[in-house]
Amino acid sequence: MRAEVRDWGRKGYSLAAIRDLARRTLPRPVFDFADGGAEDEQTLRRNEAAFASHDLLPRPLNGVDDRDLSIELFGKRLAMPVLIGPTGLSGLFSPGGELAAARAAAAAGTAFCLSHASTCTIEDLAAAGSAPRWMQIFLYRDRGFTREFVERAAAGGYDALVLTTDNQLLGNRERDIRNGFTIPPKFAPLDILAMAGKLPWLLRMRRDLPRVTFANYARPGETADLAAIAGKMGGMLDPALSWREVDWLRGLWKGPFLLKGILHPSEAAEALKHGVDGLICSNHGGRQLDGAIASLDALPGVIAAVEGRMPVLLDGGIQRGSDVVKALALGAAACLIARPQLFGLAVAGEAGVARVLEILRREIDRTMGLMGVTRLAELGPDYLRRR
Ligand SMILES: Cc1cc2nc3c(=O)[nH]c(=O)nc-3n(C[C@H](O)[C@H](O)[C@H](O)COP(=O)(O)O)c2cc1C
Repeated sequence: MRAEVRDWGRKGYSLAAIRDLARRTLPRPVFDFADGGAEDEQTLRRNEAAFASHDLLPRPLNGVDDRDLSIELFGKRLAMPVLIGPTGLSGLFSPGGELAAARAAAAAGTAFCLSHASTCTIEDLAAAGSAPRWMQIFLYRDRGFTREFVERAAAGGYDALVLTTDNQLLGNRERDIRNGFTIPPKFAPLDILAMAGKLPWLLRMRRDLPRVTFANYARPGETADLAAIAGKMGGMLDPALSWREVDWLRGLWKGPFLLKGILHPSEAAEALKHGVDGLICSNHGGRQLDGAIASLDALPGVIAAVEGRMPVLLDGGIQRGSDVVKALALGAAACLIARPQLFGLAVAGEAGVARVLEILRREIDRTMGLMGVTRLAELGPDYLRRR
């Protein structure tokens, strides 16, 4: 695929640089839909600030020549400790967004988690064969509909099921309100005039934009009406999510089962009693409860509560390989990235996501070398000081 940003290969040298290229590529409402957070965006900012408030304590005399970035997660070896987290409507950023990102993840030797709100179906991704593939779901008032998602993921050979717990009510994203962002996006003629610099993206998306939809919500033979589903989503989700539903889903799904959105140590401890296999310490990238603790600041409490009995992953604000190293030093088993892969997609499709993963791989490797660490398992809290 033709990249939309000239010379992106040279200019996209860091995740921040790729975000900047995406900002210049995407129409403002689409960029903000990905980039923004809820209300005053305090939590969004805290996520990144939390990494900056931890200093690395290197041991350069542990000279290391041969560094191993691989990890073992649920019986699978991943080449690096970064997975691609679930993002709805990835196909809004680049044609075939989810399939492209999943291919890039597989090529980098890591896992891709499909969102419930993907623009391809659960079956499309399964047929494409990228692996490992995880499936993220929500709890609907209609339990039969919820069950269908689980059964489709099982039939599609997905390796893990992720129940997102922090999105049963929709967050208040004020950038979207200010921009008049709608799903599907609608651009008035005046907006388009103001978007001259975004023409390459508009051209690239001209066939896909009208077709972008929540593909999993269509019944066989139907086409999903994006606007209608987006309007109904709030009413479909069940805000009365509890451990009872976690037990129910645990019974339905035989493979690794994770809860995403856990920040409180008491919920982490409770998860141990409900047959959960892993947790994702996350505040949804500050898109839901503004004022929530940074995920990195919540991590030590969550790790302590699970007493080493299940892996805890982290997302929210990863911008550098050193951020991943800090999370692992605090006990995370791995990290997930969401926005950076969307920005990679916007800039150069699959190659852009591949670049994002490659930047992180190199930065993790370099950080390990400078820290005197050969294997990620060597990392511990003694490699960090809280500022
Ligand atoms: C555009 C967008 C869509 C998202 N859609 C979902 C989703 O469907 N399900 C989910 O569990 N999380 C979703 N998330 C949250 C991410 O998985 C992740 O928790 C969050 O963005 C933090 O990671 P980041 O700082 O790397 O973006 C979405 C995030 C973004 C930016």
